[in-house]
Amino acid sequence: MMSGRIPEDIIMQVRERIDIVDLISGYVQLKHSGDNHLGLCPFHNEKTPSFNVNSSRQIFHCFGCGVGGNVFSFLMRMEGLAFPQAVKRLAEQVGVEIPEDEPSPHEIQRRKEREQLSQIYEEATRFYHQLLLDDPRAAQARGYIRRRGFDSEAVRRFRLGFAPDSWDALCEHFKSTGIDADQARSLGLIRNSDKTGRDFDMFRQRLLFPIEDLGGQVVAFGGRVLDDSLPKYINSPESSLYHKSRLLYGLYQAKQAMRRERSVIVVEGYFDHLALVQAGIEQVVATCGTALTDDHAAILKRYVERVILLFDQDKAGQKACFRAMPSLLQQGLEVMTLALPDGDDPDTCVRREGAEAFLERLNGARSAIETYMETILAEAGERAEEQARAIDQVVQMIRQVPDEIQRNLHLGQLAHHCGIASEVLQRQLEKTPPQSSAPPSAPPPRPAPAVSPPMPVAEQTGDIKAQKWLLTLMLADASVGVRVEETGIDSLFDSPACQRVAQQIHRAHADQREPGEWMLDQCEDPQDQDLLTQLLVREQELVSTDIEKIFGDCRQAVVRSQLKQRRVELHTQMREAEQSGDSDRHTACLQELTRINRELKSRG
Ligand code: UTP
Ligand code: MN
Repeated sequence: MMSGRIPEDIIMQVRERIDIVDLISGYVQLKHSGDNHLGLCPFHNEKTPSFNVNSSRQIFHCFGCGVGGNVFSFLMRMEGLAFPQAVKRLAEQVGVEIPEDEPSPHEIQRRKEREQLSQIYEEATRFYHQLLLDDPRAAQARGYIRRRGFDSEAVRRFRLGFAPDSWDALCEHFKSTGIDADQARSLGLIRNSDKTGRDFDMFRQRLLFPIEDLGGQVVAFGGRVLDDSLPKYINSPESSLYHKSRLLYGLYQAKQAMRRERSVIVVEGYFDHLALVQAGIEQVVATCGTALTDDHAAILKRYVERVILLFDQDKAGQKACFRAMPSLLQQGLEVMTLALPDGDDPDTCVRREGAEAFLERLNGARSAIETYMETILAEAGERAEEQARAIDQVVQMIRQVPDEIQRNLHLGQLAHHCGIASEVLQRQLEKTPPQSSAPPSAPPPRPAPAVSPPMPVAEQTGDIKAQKWLLTLMLADASVGVRVEETGIDSLFDSPACQRVAQQIHRAHADQREPGEWMLDQCEDPQDQDLLTQLLVREQELVSTDIEKIFGDCRQAVVRSQLKQRRVELHTQMREAEQSGDSDRHTACLQELTRINRELKSRG
């Protein structure tokens, strides 16, 4: 059950006090029509509104992409929260107290320490920011920022700072504000000298970019020199607050825009980030010289469907771009790339061309896999072995795409590009990848994210229609539920979501409870919520239906889907038989396949 440890009655109290129309209005512009409120769906791109909020039932449902649920599900999807977090967030809003499990002394200590540590960074940020704004020692830094084309609004918005040319400016400030030196050391803001035994500032004579975590708290700095000296940047070390692999620069401020645009632009540097934001492009984050990790990809997936990689136009940038692709593709994200003039980075390009021309460029973003394909194949030599290795590299990249149809389209493109039959490429893709030659490190598939994407409408074939009608009937009539249970849920429903929801409805009836909106919080999977909402929404339109026909259609659908499943297995077996030269087995498979095809045909 998704509710974790929050008591049932508390969840109910929250749900009763929060109005779904109010909540959703904060995100979507809704138009009133009777009991219903209509707007543009925030979960998929659409021009005409099909997103429905039903005030009396306190549920939402999109007729376009099929998502649905109650206040909690909405917040989960919208903000990328887990169920308990969503309940907590809303409970705070309406003043319902969630009884906390008594935290252990260890836990209390941990929280207190974290709180203190964040305050230290906050204090340092304030200190350095103020310096940059008006201290005489920062005059050169202010000039530098201006010369690079940034105004004081950018400085304020991102709370840029300046560390003066001093060994102890921050140390002294910390002393005067009573901040614990040990803690400041653990954050890497100050360090202790072996020689003198005294503390000294980590950042000196540098322009500072405060790095915020997902909650908007500063947890690190990146500091740039004002001239050509090296190292160009120094960054705060990792600490109990700062984990590079889970943090992207600018994410906290970009969240809103990312959700709105359903896409994000990933750049490499702080200045690239700043330049795009100043050009009015808000959905942008920076990797800041670290490799993009699986964690980064999973976090982006909470907010967007598409990622545009906009890295420096040099060898290193291209390499970083290709390395970032597998994690992003595995998340089912659409990955695009954008080429800039040679030697450019986004910052220089925007500055030279202006915001408008740059926006125009953005429209020219291309599929990253296509770019990868062209680059890798063009770089390979003429020899067959070299070509084959390049083709395999591209196949391994395509393998990361979770959607089978998309994968096939990419394979088709590759086939077209290199003149190898798709089937051959397909076979290559199905082979387990050789450990050593898979260039883009392919980590094992990650568990599904907490919130899975809505089921595309295209997947809902005619087969599923009958199953949904049967579920609708079950909702309305307990005796249908009994009959379904007797017939066997497995033999009537083939999709796991349908099976689970059927179970749920039946259980409700068995417990003598009227099935309804309350069941949404007991769903195991967001897909179940989508489905259940769809059913609840149309329960009212249930007209006279031929129940026998629906039962028959469902049974048919299950048999058909089993046959299709078997057909896929047979294809694989035949391929194996072919490879091992087992012609008897091949023939047997072929016979069964023919039988199945005939059977499927006769069933329509
Ligand atoms: P770049 O060298 O492209 O820097 O490194 P930049 O941001 O474009 O800076 P300018 O425009 O030359 O002033 C990209 C990012 O890599 C990280 C920084 O986060 C930088 O923004 N980096 C780079 C480091 O952490 N350390 C370095 O020494 C260099
Ligand atoms: Mn750069």
